[in-house]
Amino acid sequence: MIGIIGALDEEISSILKEVTDIEKIKLKVRTFYKGQINNKDVVIVLAGEGKVNAAITTSLMIENFNVKCIINVGVAGGQKGVKHRDVVISSEVLYHDFDVTSFGKYVRGQVPGFKPLFYADESLLNKTKMVLNNLHFNYKIGKIASGDQFVYSKETIKDVNELYSDIYAIEMEAGAIAQTSTIYNVPFIIYRSISDILEDEDQDDDFYKFLAIASKNASLVLKELIRIL
Ligand code: ADE
Repeated sequence: MIGIIGALDEEISSILKEVTDIEKIKLKVRTFYKGQINNKDVVIVLAGEGKVNAAITTSLMIENFNVKCIINVGVAGGQKGVKHRDVVISSEVLYHDFDVTSFGKYVRGQVPGFKPLFYADESLLNKTKMVLNNLHFNYKIGKIASGDQFVYSKETIKDVNELYSDIYAIEMEAGAIAQTSTIYNVPFIIYRSISDILEDEDQDDDFYKFLAIASKNASLVLKELIRIL
């Protein structure tokens, strides 16, 4: 079973349209949609926004469905040269708002008991890359940084930008999905389509403008990715 997580309605609605033999399963606080895409078993869930929503949803999914991997799709804010609609695939994921650096033995974003970064599955990464190449999408492979806020200013994420030069996408759930998957030892990959660019004048308008198209693109990629998993 392939587990698919989105944070916003728009992010999973086009994917849900692709599911056959769909079954709706309500478990405690989340509704899961089980079925097939390209003859592969999938389970899809809407997590809601932010780290806590993402963590409890990922945990519920792993505890209740026999998922061999977790894929998180959606949109993100971009920086460092990425453009609207470009896709960013996670090589690693981190929190930009987790800070216990005052203890002296951790870097910004690092959670005690974990490495500084959460690592995406290499095989999933290569397959996602292959699909994006075949579909002629522009993409970057790099880091995705999460925190519990919509980020407008690079000032907000300057500490992690000083540590890493390849954070291309900023959003609100990937870190928690990556950490939960890491705890349960479930391979994960995250890819996000860029809906808005940090410090652009029209960032708010762009987010809404590109949400639908970015989500549609994400589902296109997902369909092809599922075919080869
Ligand atoms: N999701 C899409 N754009 C974002 C941004 N700028 N900050 C946080 N999450 C986002």
